Amino acid sequence: MQTTEQLKTVKFYSGEVTPLEMHKVRVVQKLTLLPIEERKQAIFGAGFNTFLLQNKDVYLDMLTDSGTNAMSDNQVAAMSVADDSYAGSASYYKLEKAIKEVFNQKYFLPVHQGRAAEHIISKVFVQPGKVIPMNYHFTTTKAHFEMAGGVVEEIYTDEALKIKSSFPFKGNMDIAKLNAVIAKWGAQNVAFIRFEAGTNLIGGQPFSMQNLREVSAIARTHGIKLLMDTSLINENLYFIKIREQGYQDKPLKEILHEMLSYTDFSYFSGRKVTCTRGGGICTNNHDIYMQMRDLVPLFEGFLTYGGMSVREIEAMAVGLYETLDFDVISHSPTFIKYLVDSLDRRGIPVITPAGGLGCHLDARAFVSHLPQTQYPAGALAAALYIAAGVRGMERGTISSVRDADGNDVLADVELLRLAFPRRVFTLSQIKYVEDRTQWLYDNRHLIGGLEWTEEPPVLRFFVGKLKPIGNWVDKLVAKFRLDLGDSL
Ligand code: F0G
Repeated sequence: MQTTEQLKTVKFYSGEVTPLEMHKVRVVQKLTLLPIEERKQAIFGAGFNTFLLQNKDVYLDMLTDSGTNAMSDNQVAAMSVADDSYAGSASYYKLEKAIKEVFNQKYFLPVHQGRAAEHIISKVFVQPGKVIPMNYHFTTTKAHFEMAGGVVEEIYTDEALKIKSSFPFKGNMDIAKLNAVIAKWGAQNVAFIRFEAGTNLIGGQPFSMQNLREVSAIARTHGIKLLMDTSLINENLYFIKIREQGYQDKPLKEILHEMLSYTDFSYFSGRKVTCTRGGGICTNNHDIYMQMRDLVPLFEGFLTYGGMSVREIEAMAVGLYETLDFDVISHSPTFIKYLVDSLDRRGIPVITPAGGLGCHLDARAFVSHLPQTQYPAGALAAALYIAAGVRGMERGTISSVRDADGNDVLADVELLRLAFPRRVFTLSQIKYVEDRTQWLYDNRHLIGGLEWTEEPPVLRFFVGKLKPIGNWVDKLVAKFRLDLGDSL
């Protein structure tokens, strides 16, 4: 039987299987690919930190998919009919209606982005000494919960942190560990269980409906609330449809409603799920809604805009309906799979199976000669920028912290994340990433380590600066010239 996933790839007469864009590009943004010498200068200027590169110096910006997705023609059109008013904007009521129809959730609180929802949720539901079990944390989530005095317990399965795996639902929670955490802390000390869709930091990996159902049953037995982070729900929805038995023939809306039916409340970053900016908190529980309601005007803005512009609200409503379009939600995962499978076939170390957020290179294996204290993922991020003008995000020890003795807390995994903003890049651009990654892998022995020149005490990965240890950059540039001549 042909699966739904196969239906969206075209088998070429030549035998090649290729993902196909189910949209056409009618508004374009010019890109520049600087010559390698200028890329070298730019990365030195940025202190070998890709966050500090200027976007004008970047060819493909794969730092994140947050706020960088392509909007549809219908979303852009909707922005021009926005109803500007502080209170009671017609645009807001369209969004509320979309939340009801698409997520099947009655109550909605708008906020300016995902972490603002986390702020409000932690103010109300997290107190000192409370525990929050979750499949895996996200950086801002953990920071907010800990700032409110909570303790994060990660209860991922044994498969979750394996780089190479064929397990289809690496975002699942380990049920035995969940029961053990509840028994250890006592149900009354659990603030809520947080389930993150399309689990970001383990490689955009989904959970299964079966696992969600089991977690929800445990939560209900103990009277514990279940909170879902739906920022990456589009891709989780896609993977349930194509990978989980019994869901192939179910309409997306039905699957989505089933997912949300297991939650007590949920929140999302509109920068991801709806290809806009903004965010929101949803629930069917009036009490939960009332507990948070009055914090929205205090921290975000009045209840009918919550810090968002009305134009974004219009586009968000349309974006929510587009979540139910298989062509829309299949695009990113199909293109990601193309790159991941191709690199994997070539023996280049990547997280498998392909997830929904991007392609994650395993820096520890890629540059295995570098100790973690020389920041392999950061060095690989800088090297890929030099070799290709492609900007990825370090997710390794640079993104970690120091312990009380001043030593680096070594990260569980050293990853270079190449995010895929939705419907932004063409297949030839992805092939370019594939080609330059192969070149870099063949010359990986030339990549050296990094050391700090300016190290901020908190969230050092955002604005900290580093420099190369030795003169490996010149050697890498010279080899590029030798192999690729005058090519950019
Ligand atoms: N939850 C998840 C799963 C996220 O991936 C993000 C953001 C947030 C919450 C916070 O949302 O940025 O709107 O405040 N992820 C971005 C990223 C920043 O690059 O992965 P936000």
